[in-house]
Amino acid sequence: MELPLGLTYDDVLLLPVKTPVRSRAEVDVSTVLAKGIRLNIPIVSANMDSVTESTMAIAMARLGGIGIIHRFMSIDRQVAEVKRVKRAEAYVIEKPYTISPDTRVSEVRQLMRDTGVSGFLVVDSDNRLLGIVSRRDVRFVNHDEKMVTEVMTPREKLIVGSPKTTLEEAMRLLGEHKLEKLPLVESDWSLKGLITAKDVERVVNPSNAAKDSKGRLLVGAAIGVRGDYLERAAKLVEADVDVLVLDIAHGHSEAAIEAIRRVKTDFPHVPLIAGNVATREGTLDLIQAGADAVKVGIGPGAACTTRIVTGAGVPQLTAVMWCAEAASGMGIPIIADGGIKHPGDITKALAAGASTVMIGSLLAGTDESPGYFVVRDGVKYKAYRGMASLGANIRRRLLERGDLDAESVAQIVPEGVESYVPYRGKVEEVVNHLVGGLRSGMSYCGARNIEELRRNARFIRITEAGAAESFDKLKQT
Ligand code: XMP
Repeated sequence: MELPLGLTYDDVLLLPVKTPVRSRAEVDVSTVLAKGIRLNIPIVSANMDSVTESTMAIAMARLGGIGIIHRFMSIDRQVAEVKRVKRAEAYVIEKPYTISPDTRVSEVRQLMRDTGVSGFLVVDSDNRLLGIVSRRDVRFVNHDEKMVTEVMTPREKLIVGSPKTTLEEAMRLLGEHKLEKLPLVESDWSLKGLITAKDVERVVNPSNAAKDSKGRLLVGAAIGVRGDYLERAAKLVEADVDVLVLDIAHGHSEAAIEAIRRVKTDFPHVPLIAGNVATREGTLDLIQAGADAVKVGIGPGAACTTRIVTGAGVPQLTAVMWCAEAASGMGIPIIADGGIKHPGDITKALAAGASTVMIGSLLAGTDESPGYFVVRDGVKYKAYRGMASLGANIRRRLLERGDLDAESVAQIVPEGVESYVPYRGKVEEVVNHLVGGLRSGMSYCGARNIEELRRNARFIRITEAGAAESFDKLKQT
């Protein structure tokens, strides 16, 4: 039997070549996630319950990438997470926070702390605007028991717009009257929305954010292949999710192929990413079933034990090369999922043919991932766990069945571990570091964009000593 060779990121380096790139800033790192979806950076945060919920997805899209909301929660909650992302950058807030006229100043202060919002619209029981209360109005009020109506700016003194107010009109009103908030009301004062100076500023000063055609941040959401997955998909589509990720551990399966067909039949216009696979055949089967992008990776993830437990898997660089070769003829992008330990691994994954990388552990330690940090021996950490770990399995089964007996727990064979990763601060810093490394790496390969990287890059295989020389920097001292 002939045995193919499987290589991973640490087995290779990229050959430095003469480069036309004069500065990192001129390197274009934009890419395609799936048919019809462009990103400004090739980074996707993983659909794992210790990595991506709405806070991470908002941050990732603002940085030019995208986050995939995990599916280990009820359909309603996942839909709410998607909606939060889609609302984050719109300049009209359709359902602003409101309070009733009998709210006390002490409660207003508490609400400001809880929501992080600096002003509230005061409305009557028919949702008609009565006034606005802002941080300034409550700052020096001594009597906590005072009613909000005594300190708010009443509607007669407010500048307001209507539901028909355009962006240009809003900018003029906010500017001329030095306003922070412009409520949108009908002629009978019924509240229809709110435009804030901060949101308008974001629209007017375009950032690197990844957005849809309406200027809202992009977001993806994961679904499974069993149970209520079609209902979940339908509700996520209704909430304007930009891309669905049909994600199971062994994606090259009849169940996944059948599920792809059904999702694409019901929602032909919503881009669908499917995975995970690690072979040419797996890639082609998912594409033939209708996948608009294929996610590649069996066992490379930091919290994965699939290869240890099952003996199955393909070292990630080879997996990406095989799958990208199969997909490129069909014009379908590949997502290299798992095993990114250094910025240089991203350059290698893209050079091997991937269009984007999906990252779990490197993003799990940031402020934007779900959960709190813990301190151990004076060092901060955040929890990170594989989605096939014991804890994640228990969460999923509880969600599906409501309760779980000891016998069912004993039958679980985990293919992932639960652990901690170092706390890394804001995700923006981590992503900037990764993208900075990628830009430099592309420059070493003589590539001004990802297409050129894929075409020009040459790998060199290295020995164990070469790997030690390359990566074991701290051990050498
Ligand atoms: P990194 O290396 O970035 O990898 O942490 C993230 C990816 O790991 C996969 N994943 C798992 N694989 N058992 C596995 O075999 C698991 O429990 C598990 N949980 C996550 C997943 O593809 C993710 O995007």
